[in-house]
Amino acid sequence: MSRGLILGIETSCDETAAAIVERGAHTLSSAVASQIATHARYGGVVPELASREHLRAIVPVVRAALAEAGVTLADLDAIAVTSGPGLAGALLVGITYAKALAFANNLPLIAVNHLEGHIHAVLLNERESAPFASTKMPGAPSFPQSAPADAESVGQHEPGPNSNTAQSQSLALVVSGGHTHLYLARPAHGTWSYTLIGRTVDDAAGEAFDKVAKLLGLGYPGGPWIDALAKYGNPHAVPFSFAQIKPKVHLGGKPPRTKAAKTAPIARLDTHFLFSFSGIKTAVLRYVELHGLRAEAKARVSRVLANFRPPQTREEALTLCSQATLDLIASFQHAVIGDLMKKTFAAAESFGATRILVTGGVAANRELRERFTAEAQRRGVRIAFPTLALSTDNAAMIAAAAWPRFVAQEFAPADLTAEPSLALGSVQSKSSQNGE
Ligand code: KG4
Ligand code: ZN
Repeated sequence: MSRGLILGIETSCDETAAAIVERGAHTLSSAVASQIATHARYGGVVPELASREHLRAIVPVVRAALAEAGVTLADLDAIAVTSGPGLAGALLVGITYAKALAFANNLPLIAVNHLEGHIHAVLLNERESAPFASTKMPGAPSFPQSAPADAESVGQHEPGPNSNTAQSQSLALVVSGGHTHLYLARPAHGTWSYTLIGRTVDDAAGEAFDKVAKLLGLGYPGGPWIDALAKYGNPHAVPFSFAQIKPKVHLGGKPPRTKAAKTAPIARLDTHFLFSFSGIKTAVLRYVELHGLRAEAKARVSRVLANFRPPQTREEALTLCSQATLDLIASFQHAVIGDLMKKTFAAAESFGATRILVTGGVAANRELRERFTAEAQRRGVRIAFPTLALSTDNAAMIAAAAWPRFVAQEFAPADLTAEPSLALGSVQSKSSQNGE
């Protein structure tokens, strides 16, 4: 009998990952080959190098995932692969390999949006901690024995575009190196439906962590460094502020600055749920110049490259950074997280979401988890994060997101190709929200 085994493959950025997940609910293996060492000396991902590294790693990583799970290709029921968004060349490595493997083994191929994968990282954790459900999804083929645990609400009243009172609606904040997006997520017709309600208009939050870390002479990726150092600084030392994003800046005919922003429906979104992180990066740069912290940052680069690991104690942190730099780092992190919180909780309230899911690389941040959890408790809202391993890029989340599609028999076309700017779901425009 079929075990409902899906091999997930993820190569959208700088991690080559493969995983075997059973029925979208039980991770048998999750292998990740990180390219951090390759990109660290450049302070960011170099797309050509990323593609080359994926080519090198894809076969051993898939083999490792199969071996760790104790299964062979013959045991699989489907192969799932990230089709976008991401780096074109990097995505193509995973897609081409997945296609070939699926064709050679006569397996269906399922295309997964990377952002949907991040949302399913949280859902996978929830399913793993719940016993296998035995309910069958409406209209599902007979062989899958268990539906995703969250299928409980499939078939419930589907809210219309103007509804703010959906029973099973979750608000998902996907906060990573490439994205800071707010989605409403709800089970719909056996799979999931998503509505974009907010996003960054320029840099992603993780990008801001990485850029600030780079200008301070810290390691790559910057998030874990800033996370580790922030606890030794005063988060109120530097009063960063996030000005309200003015509609005129983005609606008044000015072209958006980043490539991602150009393809985004920013003008249609409610400005209360738009983020902007490029300003705080510039503010940090200005602070560094004005307070004489530049030389210290320059001196740090070679020591950080030699060491390659964030400090673990205050003493270690102080050998690397002055107290003024630690205060700057703590204040930066505090401000970014405060802004993420403010807009996420406002959106959850506005749309009547019954729970909040926070996912993506930045969701690994300690202060973010603590403050979001405390605020959720204060407001009486449910909140969930993925485990640390599932917060950053991995393939278990891709295999998990593919399961409802497998049940619904939604397979990828033979001409599946990379979609670097692939969007997720529909867009909640201001007019439909206001009932206009
Ligand atoms: O989800 P992810 O692995 O890849 C993308 O889809 O972008 O996220 C990577 C991002 C990087 O910007 C990294 O600096 C950030 O997540 N990150 C963190 C932490 N760990 C990773 N940011 C803040 N605190 C962390 N602990
Ligand atoms: Zn990601």
